[in-house]
Amino acid sequence: MDAKEGLKRLTAWFYEYVDQFVSRDPCIQQNIDLKTRHTQRVCEAIRDIGATLNLSQEDLCTAEVTGWLHDIGRFEQYTRYGTFMDHRSEDHAALGVRVIRESRILKRMDVFDAKLILKVVGAHNRAGLPAEKDARTLLFLRLLRDADKVDIWHVVTSYYRDSGKKRNHALELDLPDLPRISDPVYDGLMKGRLVNMVDLKTVNDFKLLQMGWVYDVNFLRTFQIVRERGYLEAIRDALSVGSERAAHVYRRARSYVERRCQESRVSGVSIRI
Ligand SMILES: [Fe+2]
Repeated sequence: MDAKEGLKRLTAWFYEYVDQFVSRDPCIQQNIDLKTRHTQRVCEAIRDIGATLNLSQEDLCTAEVTGWLHDIGRFEQYTRYGTFMDHRSEDHAALGVRVIRESRILKRMDVFDAKLILKVVGAHNRAGLPAEKDARTLLFLRLLRDADKVDIWHVVTSYYRDSGKKRNHALELDLPDLPRISDPVYDGLMKGRLVNMVDLKTVNDFKLLQMGWVYDVNFLRTFQIVRERGYLEAIRDALSVGSERAAHVYRRARSYVERRCQESRVSGVSIRI
């Protein structure tokens, strides 16, 4: 079996697996669909970013496999616990690794490096890149994390545009929508750091956390996507707090994206070391 055939079989397995979670409850089904579409678009983003990296056909297929599998734990998580919050249920990445192992899907396809894929799936949701020495594992992890962010930005900004219609608390972490930005959130972002989940006190904090993901982006193409699709502007426009602080956080993130686009173009380096 070659990598293309392996990818085809893996994709078919994904849809069969997800079929088990079809629900008559529209709220559950909405969230199952949300994660299915998220997975499809993460794979699209992987193909988009991957196409700029001179990867072999085999490596592109491996990268896409990590996309199809990265959130496989989400389906059991939501069905069993009714939440996507790991701290209120369990780590969905570790749950996904368990699902993949139990299914033996990768064991049946020796065309893919199962150990690498399990490592990448298991670490995709860490707050930052884990200490990993293997360059290949790091490459695939960076690619997946960028693609995952691209689509989470898509999901949240689409939601913010439509949230006047219907609120989805699973996408707001059940936080109160108060017109406040918490100090540790603001201070961290102004230093170019990622926001810690434990510091989130309001929906506005969470929106700014999403803006701060630019500080964890690895590839030039990802920065270009952020700019092309106006994700930072969409998040800024969705804030329910029009303070100076919000404007500072936005401007800093925006100029960081601009700088990374320029730097990468000048040096030709697309991977952030
Ligand atoms: Fe995930």
